[in-house]
Amino acid sequence: MKTKMVSAFLALSLFMLYQCAENKPAPAADAMADDAMAAKADFHGYATEAEWGHHLVTVGGCNDCHTPKKMGPHGPELDSSMMLAGHPAAMPKIDVDRKAMEKKGYAVTMDLTEWVGPWGVSYTANLTPDSTTGTGAWTVENLFLALREGKSKGLAAGRTILPPMPWNEATRHYTDDEIRAIFAYLRTIPPIKNAVPAPLPPASAMQ
Ligand code: HEC
Repeated sequence: MKTKMVSAFLALSLFMLYQCAENKPAPAADAMADDAMAAKADFHGYATEAEWGHHLVTVGGCNDCHTPKKMGPHGPELDSSMMLAGHPAAMPKIDVDRKAMEKKGYAVTMDLTEWVGPWGVSYTANLTPDSTTGTGAWTVENLFLALREGKSKGLAAGRTILPPMPWNEATRHYTDDEIRAIFAYLRTIPPIKNAVPAPLPPASAMQ
């Protein structure tokens, strides 16, 4: 009797062991589901990383300066054909007394893409993935260097990005994941060929 019970117990244990081995893939599948949920949660309710990046760019106000405007019934509106393409190369240059502006404050075009101030004149950059005039050749590392360290063109040896690009006050504080999401979004927008002019040094220093 005892032997029978022992062997029944052994058989049961073996069966359970076998079941456990059989069920091994189950925890892995659970882990995959958990990963998928975690990945989704990382996008803060957005279906993809790029959609989250779109949201970050929108609330970050990047279009205010990087997207040219056209006049609408209530004033300047974003020009959807130039999304994030920077200061339009063909736009007539701002006509202000630069030296006075350098002393007194700053001046800006109606579309907020050309800025005159103590630093000289700066033009908002083309962030679209155009390979020659935009960020098409950039890696995410270049975006990290631009948004965190204020490095022009995202190059370690690049000059410091000029005002009013808020890299020091604002974009420096994006998390790693946020910068990656912004990069993912910038890869999805239409590339626009627009060669933004190089900035000008202060007029006052040039006399
Ligand atoms: C108040 C205006 C303003 C806002 C807002 C702004 N930028 Fe800029 N940004 C600029 C200007 C001007 C430059 C070019 C400065 C220069 O030439 O040094 C620039 C440059 C950049 C560059 C460097 C591009 C290059 O080719 O070197 C990146 C990247 C960038 N901005 C991303 C962003 C992102 C992302 C946002 C939103 C979070 C943003 N900017 C918001 C004005 C702005």
